Amino acid sequence: MTTSDTSASASDTDRVDELRERMIIRLRAINALHSEPVTRAVRTVPRHAFAPEFPLEEVYDPETVLRTRFTDDGTATSSVSATWVQTLMLERARLRPGMRVLEVGSGGYNAALAAEVVGPAGSVTSIDIDPAVIDRARTHLTQAGYADRVELVVGDAEHGHPSGAPYDRIIVTAAATDLPPAWTEQLVDGGRLVLPLGVRGFQRVYAFTRHGALLLGETGNHAGFVPMQGLGVPALTTVPVTDTVELTTDAVPVPAPEALPEVFALPAHEQFTGVRIAGMEPFGTLQMWMATGLPNFATLTGAADDFRYRPMNRALLPAMWDGSSLAYLLLPAVPDASATYEFVVCGHGPDAADMAATMADHVRRWNRDHRGGPGPRFLAHPAFPSANGVIRTRHTRLLALWDQSEEDHGLNWPADPGK
Ligand SMILES: C[S@@+](CC[C@H](N)C(=O)[O-])C[C@H]1O[C@@H](n2cnc3c(N)ncnc32)[C@H](O)[C@@H]1O
Repeated sequence: MTTSDTSASASDTDRVDELRERMIIRLRAINALHSEPVTRAVRTVPRHAFAPEFPLEEVYDPETVLRTRFTDDGTATSSVSATWVQTLMLERARLRPGMRVLEVGSGGYNAALAAEVVGPAGSVTSIDIDPAVIDRARTHLTQAGYADRVELVVGDAEHGHPSGAPYDRIIVTAAATDLPPAWTEQLVDGGRLVLPLGVRGFQRVYAFTRHGALLLGETGNHAGFVPMQGLGVPALTTVPVTDTVELTTDAVPVPAPEALPEVFALPAHEQFTGVRIAGMEPFGTLQMWMATGLPNFATLTGAADDFRYRPMNRALLPAMWDGSSLAYLLLPAVPDASATYEFVVCGHGPDAADMAATMADHVRRWNRDHRGGPGPRFLAHPAFPSANGVIRTRHTRLLALWDQSEEDHGLNWPADPGK
C-alpha cells in the first residue's frame, strides 16, 4: 500500500486502522498522548502517506524513527520523527483551535497533525533548511489533502519566519543548543516554544513560555533528534585525548587542549563516592546535575577498555577539565557483592584529588537531594549575569533550577531589554 494508493483494498484499510489503534494505545500507555484533540488528529492523518517507502508495521510503531535523508557517510539529517515524540511535543505545546504555529524542521506528518488540531481558523508554517525535505513534504501533504493547510518554507530557522509572525506556538524538531532571539521575538507573549535542547551534550525536550524577553521553562523529556544545521549548528569543541577517547566541551577557548593526552596518561587518583545504583536504574538526572553545576564541565567518550573502571554508560561521561587536571565519573562494569554499582571518580593531574573530591561531593548532593526526582527546568534570558550555574549559549543564558516550585526563587529578573 502506498501513499497515493486511493484504491487501497478494504483489507489494507483495516490493517492501517488496526495498527493505528494499537499505536494510540501504546502512546497513551507511555503518556505521550492524552488529549482528545491530538488523539483525534492521530486518528485522522494517514501517517503512511508521509512515509510510503516504509513498511506499515514500522510506520505505525510509535517508537520507530523513519529516516529519510542522509549525508554521504550515512548520518541521518532528516526523518519523520517517531510518533511518540511528535505527540508528546504537540501535547506539551498545548495547541488550541485558531492558533498560529511555526514548525522548525519539516516532514509533513507532524505539520498535518498540528493543522488538524488548530483547525481551519489556525495556521501552520513549516520551515526546513533542506529544499529536498520541503519538496518531499509538499508532495506528501498534497497527496494526503493538506496542501492548503500547511505553508512550507525553505530557510534557516535561526531567523524564524518573520513574515508569518507572531506565532502562538513554535515547535522545533531538530536538536538545538541555543535559543536564537528570533524564536522569542516571533512568539506572542505567553506563547509556548517546545524544542529538543542540548545542554552541554545532554538533550531533552523542553517547553518554555515567553514572558517578555524571559523564557520560563518546564522540566524535560529524554529525546534524540538530528542536530540543527546552518547557523544553529552545535557550538561544541571535541578534542582528542587518545586514539579512541575524546573530550567535548562548550568552553571557548578550550583550556590547553594539547595537554590532555599527557594528563590522561598520568596515574589516576580514585575517589569512591559511596553512592550506589542498581543495574537498571536510570541516572539521567545525575548527568544533567553534573552538567549544570560543575565548573569546567566537559564530557568524555571512549571505549570501555580506555578507562580504569569500565564505564557502564560509555555514551557521555561527565568530566571536568581546567587545562591541567582532569576528572570524570565512572561506574564499574560488574556489580559489587550487593549487586549494585558504586560511582567512582578518576582524577589525573596536579589537582586530581581536589577535583575528584568536588565531583564526588556533587554526586553525593544529587543522591541526597535529587535522586529519583525530576530534572531541572531552565530559565532563558540574554541578560542573566554570569555566575556559577548560568550556562552561556551563543545568544542567551540558561539558568538551571532544580527546585521545582513555580515561584521566582527570589531572583531579581534583569530589566527586559525588549521593552
Ligand atoms: C527530525 S527532522 C523533522 C521531522 C518533522 N518535523 C516530522 O514531521 O517528523 C529535522 C529537520 O530539521 C531540519 N533542519 C535542521 N537544521 C535546520 C535549520 N537550521 N533550519 C530549518 N530546518 C532545519 C532538517 O533538514 C530536518 O529535515
